[in-house]
Amino acid sequence: MARFATWIAAVVAVVGMTVASAKTLVAYYSWSPDGNTRFVAQVIAEATGADLLELKLEKDYSTDYDVCVKQAKADWLSKARPALAVKCENIAEYDTIFVGSPNWWGTIAPPLLTFLCSYDFTGKKVIPFFTHGGGGMQKCEEDVKKAIPKANLVFAKTWWGTFVKMKKEEIIAWAKSVK
Ligand SMILES: Cc1cc2nc3c(=O)[nH]c(=O)nc-3n(C[C@H](O)[C@H](O)[C@H](O)COP(=O)(O)O)c2cc1C
Repeated sequence: MARFATWIAAVVAVVGMTVASAKTLVAYYSWSPDGNTRFVAQVIAEATGADLLELKLEKDYSTDYDVCVKQAKADWLSKARPALAVKCENIAEYDTIFVGSPNWWGTIAPPLLTFLCSYDFTGKKVIPFFTHGGGGMQKCEEDVKKAIPKANLVFAKTWWGTFVKMKKEEIIAWAKSVK
């Protein structure tokens, strides 16, 4: 009986530790004044009880759209990984990570690439989400996969930025279904 009680206590401790460590993070970059990707990130975090991490750059892209478009293209062509002003010290605690970005030039914005290349995502469940300006997914999902091939990548989704604020219920349902 005493041995059984010890065994039960051990099981309870392990389950408790697993539940306590099963944390979710939403890491995202958003540039435009509309904050389309930020909106999706905030809705996901609220729906899933996740922590939020905004991927701010040490030196952000120009606030001028035309300049930003040129800077972003140059960065992508040179495979730049612009330095982030934020760090995720406790990434080991997260077993599920939503990663979000606007679609820039048909792929992910460079700040998300920096984030993906900065940490070990081996075995973690990674759920990418994007917003776009009419181009849809293009190479966004594919390029996340290339950056973190050892992650367990699932359920990428993209929303048209212009309409995303009308899609709150859809985002909540999606986030709960994939988490
Ligand atoms: C530099 C730049 C490049 C973009 N390239 C694309 C593109 O290739 N395809 C597309 O559908 N939208 C493109 N867009 C539009 C954004 O993906 C869209 O407006 C997005 O919702 C913005 O998200 P944010 O508010 O979080 O920055 C681009 C926007 C910028 C600023």
